[in-house]
Amino acid sequence: MSAVIEFDNVSKRFLLQHERHTTIRERLFGVFRPRTPRDEFWALRNVSFTVARGESFGLIGHNGAGKSTALKLMTRILEPTSGQVRLRGRVAALLELGSGFHPELSGRDNVFLYGSLMGLSRREMAARLDAIVAFAGMEDFLDLPVKHYSSGMYTRLAFAVATAVDPDILITDEVLAVGDEAFQRKCMDRILRFRHAGKTIIFVSHALDTVRTLCDRAVWLDRGVVRAIGASGEVIDAYLADVNQREHASSAQMDAPGIDPTRRFGSGEVEIIGVELLDAQGGGGAIARTGAPVTFRIRYRAHQTVPQPVFGLAIHHESGTLLAGPNTLFAGLDIPAVRGEGRVDMHVAALPLLAGRYLLSAAVYDKTMLFPYDHHDRIYHFAVHNEGGSERFGACVLGSRWSWHEE
Ligand SMILES: Nc1ncnc2c1ncn2[C@@H]1O[C@H](COP(=O)(O)OP(=O)(O)OP(=O)(O)O)[C@@H](O)[C@H]1O
Ligand SMILES: [Mg+2]
Repeated sequence: MSAVIEFDNVSKRFLLQHERHTTIRERLFGVFRPRTPRDEFWALRNVSFTVARGESFGLIGHNGAGKSTALKLMTRILEPTSGQVRLRGRVAALLELGSGFHPELSGRDNVFLYGSLMGLSRREMAARLDAIVAFAGMEDFLDLPVKHYSSGMYTRLAFAVATAVDPDILITDEVLAVGDEAFQRKCMDRILRFRHAGKTIIFVSHALDTVRTLCDRAVWLDRGVVRAIGASGEVIDAYLADVNQREHASSAQMDAPGIDPTRRFGSGEVEIIGVELLDAQGGGGAIARTGAPVTFRIRYRAHQTVPQPVFGLAIHHESGTLLAGPNTLFAGLDIPAVRGEGRVDMHVAALPLLAGRYLLSAAVYDKTMLFPYDHHDRIYHFAVHNEGGSERFGACVLGSRWSWHEE
């Protein structure tokens, strides 16, 4: 196994020159103030890893963890403050927006410029131009200076060019985040073809499912230091467990931050005074687990005797899709009348929701379900975690069983 990329105890320090504010008094009286000392910031500290030829390698971590900095060290846009970065092979890199192309030049000129930087002749590039333009889908904009491109157009052209020059190593930083759905698929298809062709791929993304699928190995950077390195699935699970733990620590309650009046309506004879999510142990919180038992509890207060109320819940995916809208009437629970305070529980034996964020509505209506006493529209938030769960695409588990038959 030969290493094509090697980070050997690499650290990168940035010097930050803060803006110095001059007060009016200073300006009027010419008061002298010493220059602010330069602050230093270590974006990477003692980072070591190697990437073998033909490997797909992911970098994950929070915003500001140092992922883009690591890529810039690989491509020699930056030099390490200490340590060594070694790289073998021809690299095509798709870094953050804005690096790579010359803003005043047209798309066409940039294609040729990029080719020449990669050691391809004008003839060789001309032969690839049609395919590049077709892939990027930008026939009409080729002669426009790229500074007028939208971020999507810019990324499309950059991706098309970088992957057309036949590099040994492809480095991409969040490229898939910019394009539309169709282009993302085209890019992924091309990246996968690179992978099959035995090229080395360095992939930075916050789309952890994609990293898991695409990358053999990954490194998790946390504020500039390596927290974990190894098989991508294991590194991602360790990262998610850490994210989940922090989320747990910061959310003990299902929050309904000062109920927005536009999201609440009803005549008020019965009022919903709280909604809770309880796990099997009766513990509260705003986090549930895929496949685990959970109870949704609606607390109410009836200001008078109200016959035959119907209590209901609605669960929306954060994307806005309504996933479920169960209620006591559909479930056949007869509540003859309510007065004073009480609670209505909905038990779910095995939560079929996958990891993600969800919005919850709670409501109480009259028996015809036409007149709301109190309706809280998507006021409550909760998250679902799925540590170690086998399913991960989409929003719900079908509880299905697969079988295979050869004929
Ligand atoms: N040229 C620079 N001068 C000063 N600080 C910088 C410079 N470039 C990056 N940094 C700092 O280094 C840290 C790491 O930045 P980097 O862009 O590598 O993070 P990242 O992991 O790519 O984050 P994101 O997920 O948001 O893209 C950040 O705190 C950033 O502010
Ligand atoms: Mg970045």
